[in-house]
Amino acid sequence: EKGGYDHFMLKEIHEQPNAYRNTMLGRIDESGRKVVFPGLNLSDEKIRSINSIHVIACGTAYHAGLVGGAAIERLVRIPVSFDVASEYRYRSPLITPETLVIVVSQSGETADTLAALREAHANGAHVLAITNVVGSSIARDADDVIATLAGPEIAVASTKAYTSQLIAFYLFALYMAQARGTQTEEEVAHIVAAMQALPEQVESMLENSDAIKAYAEQISTHEHLFFIGRGLDYAVAQEGSLKLKEISYIHSEAYAAGELKHGTLALIEEGIPVIALATQESVLEKTVSNIKEVKARGADVMAITHEEHVAGLLKSVDQAFAIPKTLPLLTPALSVVPLQLLAYYASLARGNDVDKPRNLAKSVTVE
Ligand code: F6R
Repeated sequence: EKGGYDHFMLKEIHEQPNAYRNTMLGRIDESGRKVVFPGLNLSDEKIRSINSIHVIACGTAYHAGLVGGAAIERLVRIPVSFDVASEYRYRSPLITPETLVIVVSQSGETADTLAALREAHANGAHVLAITNVVGSSIARDADDVIATLAGPEIAVASTKAYTSQLIAFYLFALYMAQARGTQTEEEVAHIVAAMQALPEQVESMLENSDAIKAYAEQISTHEHLFFIGRGLDYAVAQEGSLKLKEISYIHSEAYAAGELKHGTLALIEEGIPVIALATQESVLEKTVSNIKEVKARGADVMAITHEEHVAGLLKSVDQAFAIPKTLPLLTPALSVVPLQLLAYYASLARGNDVDKPRNLAKSVTVE
């Protein structure tokens, strides 16, 4: 049942290339220049009337929403807000018929997410669900559903569902951009081509996981560590930190790299591991400054970056791990993979039950 893997989590990490392919299947037309969503109720006219987007989810799905919502904001230029589902209803959000609410849920059964969806509906919003279970409560209640075709996810720690949610979001952002004319056909084709290359890039990373495994063993003896990054790297840092916490039980925090000096830097002491995501070129120099801040306080820094930056970064970090190159917007679909493996191997090194971490359930049906 685990297909030759020791754990469902490792199997599911390795299923990601196919999950990406399946989630794109039938949603890119033959020319590779247009995204299509057969069966979506949302008309182009409706898409043009939307003036705000609320992205709502819990946990890992929320972290996918952070990346996905950023992609929409960048490509479509509509303001996007983000809420964890358990907070949404209680802040009296501004919901109108021109609001598009996107709920993200692997299981489609998360109680808080379902309640948020109902709140949005009651206020006239159009609700789109991105979910892995098409027969789920959330899928049934939503006005529209985009299925992530990741296949069943058994491990409590979500991996292939997260990355498939990213793919679904990228496609939907392009779809909206087409309807609103915010990206040219050339631009859409360019992004689509980069997306189609992702599965093989993930495969190449999975074939070279030894360095991450060794690093996981190194951090497994620590009780505290930090993830830092800027922009989309910060969003991925949050997912990496959650993954590590839930299965290795190592305490970690994800910080926007520029925010450390506003308090958290006080926690940096000799030998503490800091994992710096440094893939976003537009803010790379700033991230390097922040890396130097922690290095100066004795942190042991591992950077995740692109090959071309490894030599430069090695002047300020202790180790660097290179990931394949894609468009900055799509990089989370690659940079999260070493973090999934890191959590997996750290959990393994600590002798934990990787697939069934303590205190957690796969589907959270209580508020
Ligand atoms: C973390 C994890 C959880 C879920 C969260 C939402 O690995 O699995 O954080 O992402 O409970 O679950 P769904 O997506 O089913 O709504």
